Amino acid sequence: MFKDSFKYYKSRNPKPSFEEVLDFTNSSSWTNKVKSVSINSDNFTKTFDLIDPSAWEAFEILDRPGFIYIKNPFTSIGQRYWIRQAIEEYTKKPNKLNIDIHSLVPLEQNWWDYAKQDKSVLKKLRWSTLGYHHNWDTKIYSDQAKNTFPDNLSRLCYTFAQALGYDFKAEAAIVNFYHLDSTLAGHTDHSEEYLDAPLFSFSFGNSAVFLLGGLTIDEKPTAVVIHSGDVVIMSKESRLSYHAVPRIVKTEKQMWNDFNCESDVPLDSELRMYTSQSNFNEFQDYLEGLRINLNVRQVLPHGQLNLIGTVPNKDI
Ligand code: SIN
Repeated sequence: MFKDSFKYYKSRNPKPSFEEVLDFTNSSSWTNKVKSVSINSDNFTKTFDLIDPSAWEAFEILDRPGFIYIKNPFTSIGQRYWIRQAIEEYTKKPNKLNIDIHSLVPLEQNWWDYAKQDKSVLKKLRWSTLGYHHNWDTKIYSDQAKNTFPDNLSRLCYTFAQALGYDFKAEAAIVNFYHLDSTLAGHTDHSEEYLDAPLFSFSFGNSAVFLLGGLTIDEKPTAVVIHSGDVVIMSKESRLSYHAVPRIVKTEKQMWNDFNCESDVPLDSELRMYTSQSNFNEFQDYLEGLRINLNVRQVLPHGQLNLIGTVPNKDI
C-alpha cells in the first residue's frame, strides 16, 4: 500500500491528482480531518525569525496521532536566515556531506565556496549531517562520529518543543537537499537510542508531497503538501511511522521573498545585511530548483552523555 502511493505521487506521466492531498493553505482539503493543537506561548522570547506563537496555526491529523503540522510560523527574514544557514554553514566541515567520498571539492575548501567556480557540484549535494552523524549504511550512531550540534538550530527546536510541551534536546540532524526530480523512499527513523523524543522537521524552498503511513508498509499513507517554512513534528504514535517524499513541487509562492508581514529587525542591522536581496541573490538562484529539509532528532535519553548507556564516572 505504501509503495503504491509512493509510485502514484512520484509518477511524471500520468501526473497524479492532488485531490486526496491535505494542503493546509486550502481548508477544503483538510476540514474534518484534523484538529487544532494548542500552543503554549508563556515562555516565548521574541526572535527575529518567528512570528508570535499566538498567531501560529498548528494541527494534528486525526487518524495520524502524534503527527503535528505548524503552518509556516517564520518571518521572511527568518526563512532567508535558515536557508542561508543550511546552504552555507551546515555544509561546512566538520559536518559530513554525501559528496565527501567522491572528493569533488578540494579538502581545504567548503562546498558552497567551491560551487561558485564549479557549479556542477550544486546538484550533487543531497545531504549533510550535523551533531551525531547519521550512518546511512549501518543506521547506527557512534560516539566517534559526532560533532558539536549547531547552537542556533538547537535553540530553534527548543522554542518549538516549549510551545508544544515537549522536553527535547537536539543532538543529530540530517539536512536534506532535494532537487526538482529528487525523491526520498519510504523509511522509518529508529536509529536513535531514545525514541520517546519527538522529531522536528523544518522545510524551506520548493514544496513537497510528504507521505505519512503507519508502523508497517501495508498501511495506505496520508499525503500532505509541505510548503516553505512549515514545521512538522513526528511524536508519539507517529514517531516510528513510515514516511517518504515522492515528489517535489515547484512553489508558486516564494514565502522567503514575501516581505509584506515584515518583522521589526532594524534596517541597519547585520541580520538585515545577511538576508538582504543583494546578499541573497546567489541563494535565490540555487533555491529555484531546491527544497531544503532540516530533520532534527534527540539521540540519547535525558541525562545520558554517550551511547553506551552509562554516564562516565568522574575522577576523584
Ligand atoms: C526525512 O524523512 O528524512 C525527510 C522528510 C522531509 O524531507 O520532509
